Amino acid sequence: MPEYDTVADLYDLEYDHDYDLPFWLALAQREGGPVIEWGAGTGRIAIPLAKAGFDVTGVEISNPMLGLARKKSKSVRYVLGDMRSAKPDRRYRLAVCAFNSFLCLPSVDDALAFLRNAREHLLPGGLLGIEVSAFTPEELAETSGIPALHHDFTRELPSGRLERFSTSRYDAAAQLLEMRLFYELYGSEGELESKRANDLTIRVTGRDELVLMLRLSGFEVEAIYGGFEGEPFTAGSDHLIALARRA
Ligand SMILES: C[S@@+](CC[C@H](N)C(=O)[O-])C[C@H]1O[C@@H](n2cnc3c(N)ncnc32)[C@H](O)[C@@H]1O
Repeated sequence: MPEYDTVADLYDLEYDHDYDLPFWLALAQREGGPVIEWGAGTGRIAIPLAKAGFDVTGVEISNPMLGLARKKSKSVRYVLGDMRSAKPDRRYRLAVCAFNSFLCLPSVDDALAFLRNAREHLLPGGLLGIEVSAFTPEELAETSGIPALHHDFTRELPSGRLERFSTSRYDAAAQLLEMRLFYELYGSEGELESKRANDLTIRVTGRDELVLMLRLSGFEVEAIYGGFEGEPFTAGSDHLIALARRA
């Protein structure tokens, strides 16, 4: 079962940020459509791109996530499928794989399968943009040994609040960060309405590994940024963004 199936209903409460949208919109304006988003989730990026007038396809493996995107907007062409193998029947000028969708691929082979598939679906000279979280060794080291429970955030909701806690364990050999997320939903009177736990694993990927994988998959890497303002990528960057053109 896709990992996001069981947390789809909470996704838009957890992730309502839009600081990355101007970056993807500017890229779409520069490159032109059609645009494909691989791992489109509930349409957080795909829908604003479509609203801006681009012809957008969103590929997503989780049916509940895609169902929520469909409810929010009919202006995106949705494809339920795996980014390693889905075959939308057209090719695109711009491909986006953002907000850690790439890190959901659990091995180098899975990442390469996706990159080759993404390349196949780009027009000659088309551009792929990948954005993932960058982790410092200290952040990952924190997660070795006995896992500590962290309070990640509180989200105030119209009818109460959502709290998230987590524990993480980092397997440095496999580069897998295994997280257990604990959600608690409280009602307007502060009463606990429901709680649940969900496991999520991501594969941490560094700059040079990403560059190498892109080259092996037939891309020329045009730019590496450490943030959405085009900052250089450094050891302290929170984001790793790669722009790579179909060679
Ligand atoms: C962190 S969410 C990001 C969603 C969206 N890009 C955003 O910015 O809000 C990662 C998404 O990638 C999807 N995903 C993970 N593995 C996938 C795969 N192999 N094929 C397609 N989608 C996948 C997940 O189901 C999830 O919706």
